[in-house]
Amino acid sequence: MSEDNNGGIKVLNKAPVIELVSICKSYHVGDMDVPILKSVDLRVMPGEFVAIMGPSGSGKSTLMNMIGCLDRPSCGQVLLMGRDVNTLPDPELAKLRGLEIGFVFQNFNLVPRLTTLQNIELPTYANKKPGVDSRKKAKELVEMVGLKDRMNYKPSEMSGGQQQRVAIARALINDPSLILADEPTGNLDSVTGDDIMRIFSDLHKKGRTIVMITHDPDLAQYADRIVHLKDGIIEK
Ligand SMILES: Nc1ncnc2c1ncn2[C@@H]1O[C@H](COP(=O)(O)OP(=O)(O)O)[C@@H](O)[C@H]1O
Ligand SMILES: [Mg+2]
Repeated sequence: MSEDNNGGIKVLNKAPVIELVSICKSYHVGDMDVPILKSVDLRVMPGEFVAIMGPSGSGKSTLMNMIGCLDRPSCGQVLLMGRDVNTLPDPELAKLRGLEIGFVFQNFNLVPRLTTLQNIELPTYANKKPGVDSRKKAKELVEMVGLKDRMNYKPSEMSGGQQQRVAIARALINDPSLILADEPTGNLDSVTGDDIMRIFSDLHKKGRTIVMITHDPDLAQYADRIVHLKDGIIEK
């Protein structure tokens, strides 16, 4: 963890945003169990920017699904904001995930028929922190990502980089504890990719906690910690 203004003691007292304790994950293929993650331990503290690297097929997306609480591990524990994901029924887990995690995907995953502003507001339709004016917040975020003049555009009327900026704003609408990005620049040219990485970097400087999955060593350099996934474990 980087030095911050909080002083040592306070940092020591902080609890992890997400913690994986000896998790494993296998997929059923036919009547076989194929192990993908074997024993993964990972702890992400508030304010950290962690890059997870690994070759194609190493299980990065599987791990993202664990960190993002989109899927449950075959064994071990996932703790999101100190809560054991496996003890939560699906609706409660969906709510916790919706409030605590903002997702950014490689292919943006915007809803084609919705405008920029509506896409940004979308997560609040299902989960919303009480007392928050979503429209006002969405307008602040659209400005933050530099798309005020594209507020009423549809995704098809924008470039890939602009669409990813919308996706980043959408990830922030519920003020999540964690931003989780899977290859966020994978579908962008390198100049646009750098623009997107600068946004992540700024968010990190403002104290956001980010986990980014990438196979690109240049992008991983933006993070303050890099972990490598290989043969189903995180290399020490
Ligand atoms: N739903 C699934 N069912 C069976 N096998 C899967 C499934 N998802 C992924 N896999 C396999 O798990 C391995 C890791 O996949 P993935 O996590 O997508 O890796 P990465 O994101 O690092 O490329 C691959 O061999 C893939 O074929
Ligand atoms: Mg992947």
